[in-house]
Amino acid sequence: MLALLKKRRSIRKFKFKKVSTDQIEQLVQGALLSPTSKNRRPWEFIVVTEEKGLTALSKSKTHGAQFLEGAPLAIVIIGDPEVSDVWIEDTSIASILIQMTAESLELGSCWIQIRERFHNDKKSAEDYVKEVLSIPAAKRVASIIAIGHPDEEKKPHSEENLLYEKVYHNRYHEDCRMRLSNTPNIKEQ
Ligand SMILES: Cc1cc2nc3c(=O)[nH]c(=O)nc-3n(C[C@H](O)[C@H](O)[C@H](O)COP(=O)(O)O)c2cc1C
Repeated sequence: MLALLKKRRSIRKFKFKKVSTDQIEQLVQGALLSPTSKNRRPWEFIVVTEEKGLTALSKSKTHGAQFLEGAPLAIVIIGDPEVSDVWIEDTSIASILIQMTAESLELGSCWIQIRERFHNDKKSAEDYVKEVLSIPAAKRVASIIAIGHPDEEKKPHSEENLLYEKVYHNRYHEDCRMRLSNTPNIKEQ
């Protein structure tokens, strides 16, 4: 699992190649296997493969979504606040598990934030996505995961860059920063 986590990078350039039906089914399983508070499963998903839909979604916000235009697949993650008060946590977990399932299938992916973002100065990105995909007003749109065969190479995350200084042992105190036996960058204190 750690190897997969190190390898995962946000991929925003995709080859002109479809994601297979089998891969889409595995991605959907990854989403539906996500743990949720009280097992309420307050999420729903829209698998978008139509070029028209992907192009429309690429315009969800002014920055950070445009690469959907060249992607073969997007999964839109919807939450229902009437089903769970922690739908944000549950949809976030589903989003990252879709990304990790994509990674395990050697597909690239990138999270596109929709909740709390804006399409323009009058319309939220959420309302825009709801209009494009006919999502009922009472539902919430958390994120979109863009997925495809990577057409860019990124270095995996290295252990040297991990922020171990953010980890404490037993309590939050300067003297209690976690010391791991194999952490290369822990400064002697
Ligand atoms: C909650 C969240 C929202 C993000 N929103 C966007 C986004 O809207 N557009 C985008 O291109 N990347 C987005 N990203 C990807 C981050 O920019 C990326 O994960 C971060 O820069 C670290 O790079 P890495 O994923 O390659 O490790 C988002 C990531 C997270 C976790």
